[in-house]
Amino acid sequence: MKIELRKFKMSDLDEMMEMFLDEKVTDAIGLTLSSNPPKITKKFEKKWLKESIAEYKKKKPSKYNFAIISDGIYVGNMGTHKIDYENESTEIGYWIGKKCWGNGIATRALKLFIKKLNEKFKLKRIVGFAFTFNPASKRVMEKCGFKLEGIRKQVKKGKNKFYDDYQLVKIQ
Ligand SMILES: CC(C)(COP(=O)(O)OP(=O)(O)OC[C@H]1O[C@@H](n2cnc3c(N)ncnc32)[C@H](O)[C@@H]1OP(=O)(O)O)[C@@H](O)C(=O)NCCC(=O)NCCS
Repeated sequence: MKIELRKFKMSDLDEMMEMFLDEKVTDAIGLTLSSNPPKITKKFEKKWLKESIAEYKKKKPSKYNFAIISDGIYVGNMGTHKIDYENESTEIGYWIGKKCWGNGIATRALKLFIKKLNEKFKLKRIVGFAFTFNPASKRVMEKCGFKLEGIRKQVKKGKNKFYDDYQLVKIQ
């Protein structure tokens, strides 16, 4: 299996919507867990793609997002939307379309992404979060050298309860 990260194109929109509109995916990244979840619309995702593409040209982008490609097929997203230049730190996020889970794709993509981040930015801290109901995501980060920094208690207000998450960090 060949895994690559490639820059987004506006033509990724339809496939992105199809993979993303799955509560297994959107719950894990916190979107649909909320008591008042945002409507995930094509218009909103189109704007997100447009903004992500515009950031590639910037010397100091505020987000840096890529399509995960497995054997030539777009299967998920990997990126960062917060780059703190002053403190040399960033926060990563990712998801894989449900059909492709369990094949080692996220782990390989995250390793590639860390390499890409380090080629472009000077970073001391790379941080990631995973809800405690999502041990697979914690495991992905651990396999990429992240260490557990702590558990943020009751950090996300859901429909009926609050959720905890793991905070993991890669110090370099
Ligand atoms: C989390 C996610 C990215 C994992 O993607 P993936 O490509 O299936 O991940 P990988 O195959 O590279 O690795 C998954 C690891 O988790 C492990 N795992 C899976 N389910 C697990 C569970 N219930 N408990 C513990 N470990 C688990 C796998 O065994 C594997 O580890 P291993 O290689 O040591 O066996 C994917 O499930 C996803 O997109 N989920 C929804 C969105 C999301 O969670 N994004 C991250 C938000 S922080």
